[in-house]
Amino acid sequence: MWVTFGLGLKKPKFSNQLYDLICNCIHTDLLLAFDYLLSQFLKAMMQSENSVEDAFHIRKLEISDKEKGFIELLRQLTVCDSVSDEKFKERFEEIAKYGDDHCICVIEDVRSRKIVATGSVFIEKKFVRNCGKAGHIEDVVVDSSARGMQLGKRIVEYLADHAHSMGCYKVILDCTEENRPFYEKCGFKKKEIQMVKYFV
Ligand SMILES: CC(C)(COP(=O)(O)OP(=O)(O)OC[C@H]1O[C@@H](n2cnc3c(N)ncnc32)[C@H](O)[C@@H]1OP(=O)(O)O)[C@@H](O)C(=O)NCCC(=O)NCCS
Repeated sequence: MWVTFGLGLKKPKFSNQLYDLICNCIHTDLLLAFDYLLSQFLKAMMQSENSVEDAFHIRKLEISDKEKGFIELLRQLTVCDSVSDEKFKERFEEIAKYGDDHCICVIEDVRSRKIVATGSVFIEKKFVRNCGKAGHIEDVVVDSSARGMQLGKRIVEYLADHAHSMGCYKVILDCTEENRPFYEKCGFKKKEIQMVKYFV
């Protein structure tokens, strides 16, 4: 009933059409099984992505974030002395007056209720570029225990999206050579050099 052909595979003698039909059925079953496994895999991937989104909530800075380690987080970036509650409130309200022109965003770890990432963008109004606007990203930092989980990228994307939605024609930032690959992953490219003059 079977004849051997090619690489030792056997083909039934009785009917080529029947053989093709069986092969097609097997192929279809395999494809369906593969399709099912792929969809399960993608579902699991999406669930794990969602669980990261659920575990880390991104939003604008709130006045209560001082109690959630916001200042301690900034200390991982640069000099940031302790700020009294009164001074924090005063500065918070001052910044709030700029509305969407000064946006500080944070990521809160929902379980620990700690602020684990932050960054800010300031919208500068210009005369050039047809009275255009430019976004300036500053103070991006992720808590040392939460690095490598795409939180920095989420912060930078949030700030860049904000600048875009405010009508900016560009968004810029300064960084060290060490952080250049990170910002490149966020879609930025190196342009010119940074100059600075400190007063303190
Ligand atoms: C720089 C910093 C904000 C990155 O935050 P993070 O949450 O660890 O970064 P992410 O997980 O979002 O990284 C996004 C991508 O950049 C890559 N990346 C991050 N830091 C990198 C680095 N120093 N060098 C090379 N690649 C880097 C990641 O591997 C990841 O790549 P992938 O998308 O291919 O997986 C964080 O390390 C930090 O807070 N550093 C100290 C403060 C600081 O230097 N801030 C920047 C001021 S300009």
